[in-house]
Amino acid sequence: MLVKEEKTLQEIAESLVTECALTEEKPGKKGANRAAEKKERRDAEIRELKEILLLHGQDILFAPGMQQEKEFMQHGKVSVFEHSVGVALVCLMLAKKTGWKVDTRSLVRGSLLHDYFLYDWHDPHPEVGLHGFTHAGIAMENACRDFDLNEIEKDMIVRHMFPLNLKPPRYRESIILCIADKMAAACETFRIPYWEEVIRELREAG
Ligand SMILES: [Fe+2]
Ligand SMILES: [Fe+2]
Repeated sequence: MLVKEEKTLQEIAESLVTECALTEEKPGKKGANRAAEKKERRDAEIRELKEILLLHGQDILFAPGMQQEKEFMQHGKVSVFEHSVGVALVCLMLAKKTGWKVDTRSLVRGSLLHDYFLYDWHDPHPEVGLHGFTHAGIAMENACRDFDLNEIEKDMIVRHMFPLNLKPPRYRESIILCIADKMAAACETFRIPYWEEVIRELREAG
């Protein structure tokens, strides 16, 4: 069942990436109006997701460790903080599009903390080994130290690097995070803007 769900998610994720990247207006008045309406709908939708993010994750967003993430870069010019906020928004969007029954609070909290490793992975850190393989475990240890986490949130964090880390996700929330993280990373690496305004607002709020 999880494999089937993952396939559906991937299809939705691909359409979302295309949708996120659609910022240009089509030629002609009708095309421009349609593009403007679409952008307005999408902006309203993302603002609604921002409210959900704040409702469940405000304490995490403004905690010292999370604020420290602003100093570490993730992909290109995107900090780990911005990446984590972006991933949490994509998770909420995927959950909404699929209509899956998920624990929204866990989805928000696990996704915000999924890269809570708290060091600059571009600098050499021989003590932690290969970042790609080890950072999920380090993020979970740090997150458990600083926050109270439930089983879903722990699974989300520790298994978000599947399939690089071999243990597959156990919960729907964890599967959503696996897909959302890869989508966000692709957008950040190829400089495709996604919800920059909302991410900037949350970065500057802390
Ligand atoms: Fe990660
Ligand atoms: Fe990530």
